[in-house]
Amino acid sequence: MSSPVTLTLQPSFQVAPVRRRTFGAFVEHLGRCVYTGIFEPDHPSADEDGFRADVLALTRELGVSSVRYPGGNFVSGYRWEDGVGPVEERPARHDLAWHSTEPNTVGLDEFMAWAGKAEVEPMYAVNLGTRGIAEALDVLQYANAPQGIAYSDQRAENGHAEPYGIRMWCLGNEMDGPWQAGHKTAEEYARIATEAARLMRQEDPDLELIACGSSSSQMETFAAWENTVLTESYDLVDMISAHAYYSEKDGDQASFLASADDMDHFIDSVVATADHVRAKLKRDKRIMISFDEWNIWYQHRAESRPPSGDDWPVAPVLLEDTYSAMDAVVFGNLLISLLRHSDRVASASLAQLVNVIAPIMTAPGGEAWKQTTFHPFALTSRHAAGQVLDVRVTAPSFENARFGKSSAADAVATWDEESGALTVFVVNRGPEGEQALNADLAGFGDLELVEAVTLHHEDPYAANTQDAPETVVPAPNDSVALDGGRLVGTLPAISWSMIRLARRA
Ligand code: AHR
Repeated sequence: MSSPVTLTLQPSFQVAPVRRRTFGAFVEHLGRCVYTGIFEPDHPSADEDGFRADVLALTRELGVSSVRYPGGNFVSGYRWEDGVGPVEERPARHDLAWHSTEPNTVGLDEFMAWAGKAEVEPMYAVNLGTRGIAEALDVLQYANAPQGIAYSDQRAENGHAEPYGIRMWCLGNEMDGPWQAGHKTAEEYARIATEAARLMRQEDPDLELIACGSSSSQMETFAAWENTVLTESYDLVDMISAHAYYSEKDGDQASFLASADDMDHFIDSVVATADHVRAKLKRDKRIMISFDEWNIWYQHRAESRPPSGDDWPVAPVLLEDTYSAMDAVVFGNLLISLLRHSDRVASASLAQLVNVIAPIMTAPGGEAWKQTTFHPFALTSRHAAGQVLDVRVTAPSFENARFGKSSAADAVATWDEESGALTVFVVNRGPEGEQALNADLAGFGDLELVEAVTLHHEDPYAANTQDAPETVVPAPNDSVALDGGRLVGTLPAISWSMIRLARRA
């Protein structure tokens, strides 16, 4: 064993309160996320609205706080009106983003019914790609206006008298990306986003509006895009979006394991850019980040190749990545990074929820199961409470091609002063193998150990499948103990752990 991982933490190392919206997810009309994902009327578990009850139960178990809808790349070619009113009158359309046919059986009203049952807050994205400000206002009025005008009366005729009161609205999706329908320059997008935001606020002043940031920190326009967009829209928007996907590339396991370093740097760079605009404009307000797409995604695999030619299927198998134990460790580390930045990341959405790069998988007509990534998300969402604490980590470093040197361990903690619950989330991500853990918790008073669980598999590429859904699951870590005020234990190689402690009664 190499030198130990030492964690230094104190109740006063507070970053910000844990935000429930950190645990958001994303449902896009993409592949089998909607059809045979959340919605499958012929499924044995389907409820009266056609929603799979097994997926609803897993969504609640996952601890999802909010769900972004309806896209993604899909939204930039979407006509929201196609998805409301009598189902038999709704048109089918080609979705150019994913070369699929969209039957429009599920639309805004169905999504809102599902969100109610899933107990999640909705987050709605408008189309600023092939459409514009008028259509953004139309869908806002359909969703949020009290009865008495055309669109809200239409909503009532469709069976929904009360306004939905959707608070979070995304002003388009990834408008910086050349692949996006209606892709724009930063100047073009800054204008339309600002004008859409101005009118949407006139319609409904309580909205929380999210401008599109860069679709990745690797974009050539990254940071310049944020600067231009925020300089124009600063007073009218609340958040700027960030998107990031990670995967092991060309067998470079070490760089992949250090992916959270990139997320840390990405968030810090967006914060620096937003605060630069704040200084330039002499404003008090701070722009927050909506990290509304994040995950592991193996984009180069065949699973992510859309259909082509004359083949325009409904709900094809697309982006159905199977996640390994190592993916789950990196994923848990990304959640650590998001939590650590709770002072500026006001909302986040795991992309996506079901079947499409998802923690929940389904077989049409068959069962639903949990991918490896389900576990760190569910446990973090359930047990992160109170204040996020910054944890100083001392650990050996490891070399990797992408970042040079990275720490072999990473951690964050949450402390609920009122209930006396302290929860530590820690990853061993170095190539050195097992590492000893050591933390001085004397500053928290008289604690007892509640539980320690670790997600790890001897084969880091082991995965959960339909036939073997419990191959990689968190297990009690019996090495963890509290010795006076000192926490000790062992972190297996490539592992994610959660250690729960409580003030002794
Ligand atoms: O989540 C999959 C896709 O990734 C989304 O449609 C798009 O916004 C992003 O590029």
